[in-house]
Amino acid sequence: MSSLLLAPSILSADFARLGDAVAAVERGGADLIHVDVMDGHFVPNITIGPPVVKSLKRVATVPLDVHLMITDPDKYIGAFAEAGAAMISVHVEVLPHLHRTIHAIKALGAKAGVVLNPATPVVEISEIAGDVDFVLVMSVNPGFGGQSFIPRSESKVADVRALLDSVGNKAPVEIDGGIDMSTVGRVVKAGARMLVAGHAIFGQPDPERATRELKAAALKAL
Ligand code: DX5
Ligand code: ZN
Repeated sequence: MSSLLLAPSILSADFARLGDAVAAVERGGADLIHVDVMDGHFVPNITIGPPVVKSLKRVATVPLDVHLMITDPDKYIGAFAEAGAAMISVHVEVLPHLHRTIHAIKALGAKAGVVLNPATPVVEISEIAGDVDFVLVMSVNPGFGGQSFIPRSESKVADVRALLDSVGNKAPVEIDGGIDMSTVGRVVKAGARMLVAGHAIFGQPDPERATRELKAAALKAL
């Protein structure tokens, strides 16, 4: 696996044809498939659960990166791991016992990530920075695809990178929200190495080509 991973988010795909969507972005060079799980409580939208992840696992040849935007992740991480999630990320905003949750995800055999909403300061993860397998910086308020990138996120990526480096953790920084041809170079330069993109891929007439072009633009900024 390369040091820069593109993770198309199926949130913007046609949910009646998810298998085709996965195949198209894999042909275009997708490194991961980003799966957005929303519960209608933590975010004002409802999407998918473990049965869909299980079906995706049957068709995907790249790892599934499952982003839990739910109020009670502790209750569901086992089901998502069993369904085939290779990576599971949880929001710091909902977890009073984040250390326990991160280690529970690892014990299930998945990579454990922690997510920061745009208004959540980086200091919130200072005590857990040494334990995580990746950190996801939200560059939009979670809930919907196709929103505009929040410019402040660029320096936040750099701050998270500096925090991880300060504790000797080489874990990658992931970014999610508003990543497209105009923002991808900036976030890669800031230190992001896992790039989620929904609308910029599945909102295009040719998702395979959009994947290839976005990845090329990201690699060029390295
Ligand atoms: C937003 C989700 C994102 C979303 C990104 O709540 O976490 O993964 O799919 O979509 P775009 O790339 O369209 O901003
Ligand atoms: Zn996401």
